[in-house]
Amino acid sequence: MKIGDKHYRTIWLNDDNWSVEIIDQTKLPHEFATRPLRSSADAAHAIRSMLVRGAPLIGATAAYGLALAMREDASDAHLASAASALQATRPTAINLRWAIERVREPLTRAPVNERAALAYRLAAEICDEDVAINEAIGRVGAEVFATRWRELGAKRPLNILTHCNAGWLATVDWGTAIAPIYKLYDAGVPVHVFVDETRPRNQGASLTAWELKSHGVPFTLIVDNAGGHLMQHGDVDVCIVGTDRVTADGSVCNKIGTYLKALAAHDNKVPFYVALPSPTIDWATARGSDVPIEDRGAREVTHISGRGSDGGVIEVALAPEGTQARNPGFDVTPPRLVTGLITERGVAEASNAGMKKLFGEKAAA
Ligand code: MRU
Repeated sequence: MKIGDKHYRTIWLNDDNWSVEIIDQTKLPHEFATRPLRSSADAAHAIRSMLVRGAPLIGATAAYGLALAMREDASDAHLASAASALQATRPTAINLRWAIERVREPLTRAPVNERAALAYRLAAEICDEDVAINEAIGRVGAEVFATRWRELGAKRPLNILTHCNAGWLATVDWGTAIAPIYKLYDAGVPVHVFVDETRPRNQGASLTAWELKSHGVPFTLIVDNAGGHLMQHGDVDVCIVGTDRVTADGSVCNKIGTYLKALAAHDNKVPFYVALPSPTIDWATARGSDVPIEDRGAREVTHISGRGSDGGVIEVALAPEGTQARNPGFDVTPPRLVTGLITERGVAEASNAGMKKLFGEKAAA
């Protein structure tokens, strides 16, 4: 994605050919800053502290985390401990486990002196594949949106609602849910995006709004509670979100609040799509209720941070001191509320049979 005149991915290898550079997303939208990762511990910290976030990018960062680990010490013991430290960073996005296994397993079979080079190669492969997959999701989703736009008469901009950030910042490039929007906009179809702020961490307000603004896509920021009202009034033509894990029955685990948007969409006959790359499918977990939901700290609920009038970033308290708060990071949307899963291979019904139709051989694995 371009920032000004320069094309960026969200993660890349530095010119020294070993350290890894990331965009520090905790600084956005107020500052665009990059940061080097020089150790597997740096990579684990970046994921845990959400300097990088979004399911595909978490996976890519963990893959480079293993490459950095192999540079430190390529022994079996260090491979095992780095893999488990990276796995422990965040519990919900399946891409983390997928990427760690994709790198770890071939490493166990490789000679110790070849492990670092192999790990860097595999991490780069994961990144390149993510870009290609998301570009394909963009093409598939843009066709779905263009069809909807034509069905609605093709007279006014297509109004799309999205939740959280499933744009290029959440992946290596393009994004999942936002990729079709970029494709459609670039093709000249008029679009307008309702961006849910996505409390408590506000990935919509901070990240999706920043991305769309950088690309020039028209958008309106809304509070999370506004979506249902807008749908009742015919202001939303289609919803699209990303996902951290789709289980074998087609249940969609995504950022907290997704379920409520899907319910409102269903009640108002607004199509509700989920965009995902195939590594986000967890064939081994039968039902959405089996997904571990990240429980995040109370402070994200009781406090909020943003830019003060003096230009500095400040945190302020919203609730009385000592207030108890509960902060589940994700929820599960049942398949019956999902119009379709937009993948790199086409649109699947949100069901085991629907996903197997597109990814048969993986489903059998
Ligand atoms: O807590 P986050 O910011 O990592 O959550 C991100 C999301 O929920 C995204 O919607 C999901 O990872 C899909 S990203 C393409």
